Amino acid sequence: MKKEHKNTDLMEKVVSLCKRRGFVFPGSEIYGGLQGFYDFGPLGVELKNNLKRLWWRWMTKEHENIVGIDGAIITNPKVWEASGHVKSFSDPLVECKKCHHRFKADDITGDKCPDCGGQLTEPKEFNILMQTHLGVIEGEKTDTYLRGEACQTIYLDYKNVLNTTRLKIPFGICQIGKAFRNEVTPGNFLFRQREFEQWDLQWFCHPSETEKWFEYWKEERMRWYKSIFTRPENLGFHKHEKLAHYAKQAFDIEYTASPVGKEMEGIHSRGDWDLSRHSEFSGQDLSYVDSETGEKFIPNIVETSGGVDRTFLFLLLDAYAEEGDRVILKLHPGLAPYKAAVFPLLANKPQLVEKAREIYDLLRKDMNVAWDDRGNVGKRYYAQDEIGTPYCITVDFDTLGEKGEDAKDTVTVRDRDTAKQERIAISDLGAYLKEHTGG
Ligand code: GAP
Repeated sequence: MKKEHKNTDLMEKVVSLCKRRGFVFPGSEIYGGLQGFYDFGPLGVELKNNLKRLWWRWMTKEHENIVGIDGAIITNPKVWEASGHVKSFSDPLVECKKCHHRFKADDITGDKCPDCGGQLTEPKEFNILMQTHLGVIEGEKTDTYLRGEACQTIYLDYKNVLNTTRLKIPFGICQIGKAFRNEVTPGNFLFRQREFEQWDLQWFCHPSETEKWFEYWKEERMRWYKSIFTRPENLGFHKHEKLAHYAKQAFDIEYTASPVGKEMEGIHSRGDWDLSRHSEFSGQDLSYVDSETGEKFIPNIVETSGGVDRTFLFLLLDAYAEEGDRVILKLHPGLAPYKAAVFPLLANKPQLVEKAREIYDLLRKDMNVAWDDRGNVGKRYYAQDEIGTPYCITVDFDTLGEKGEDAKDTVTVRDRDTAKQERIAISDLGAYLKEHTGG
């Protein structure tokens, strides 16, 4: 029987599952934690790496003219003046005159403190760039920032990429990397953190083609997200009315069923803002010369900038299901931390254990596979369902040939989503799992 769950319950259940099974741990937990920071545990890092690998492969292998970089987190501080973040990357804040708690003005209605009822101040701008200091001698240190958005290094490397590749406009540079924001109200688990990861594509095009490429990338990115979500009908677009300082047009791809915020990725038409500003502040000419026509221009940029951690969270919310007392993570098999789990039917029968070990060692050469010999098979299925393992493989007495030659060297393969079981020859297992999980 399927249980309906309220959305807030769902968030609590996913947070609890993440901690219990080693997907995500609160940052610095033994010291009481640190708001807005999280660590990914053994299963979380596998899921996150699978997710990033899919994105990278899709960007760089399924599209011509896209190359990747991995830029530094700390850049020359002038970068953030040129980008406009020093001046405009801020949130309006209000402070309670009585308890001194601070709130994002956008989150508050009225002029009373939600915590103690005290009078709130007028909104003041609060810059959310995260500062750091370089150098060794106190008083002589240089102030700079951890990058507030990962994409800036792509603009800094744009000329180097052009000079070292054979790319011609239109082309893209992509990157997955950390960004840092001193968020006023971090919260809602991975949704709003102070340290998080972004995946960005910056697409450089002729100004006359900006609209065409904006539409193309908007649809293309939605197509990709739909291919990895369990319930693609939960994805939608949201048009921005209020635009960031660099944007001329913007849409979000949203996870519409989210119990917290919905934004997952921003598709922005950034015009020539970034390259023009970096040209002006660095004194370097960042214009592009068309080798065929000789035309010289500053390319326009269409950006797709998504949150890896938000996608991770939304994928878990989307995949979480309950059937009776059974919890199932119906994750896309290509994302699942383990592609399969191998069990000997009984842990105290050496022949079963030996055969199961053989299979486990064989499969492990190609993919991430779990081993479990605790409790009974039913309990092991439940434990694997909860972490999204698409297939469970059981070695039983038939495998050893006790019921005749036909079933010898075959195993039971049980499907996570349908709970159906089929017999498969050990020699076909590797190919079967590769075909069904992407390896
Ligand atoms: N380069 C453009 C840019 O950074 P953004 O809309 O500010 O645009 C892009 O950020 C994506 O980064 C968001 O859609 C969201 O998924 C993710 N993101 C932004 N702030 C975040 C935060 N505090 N915690 C987790 N993810 C965040």
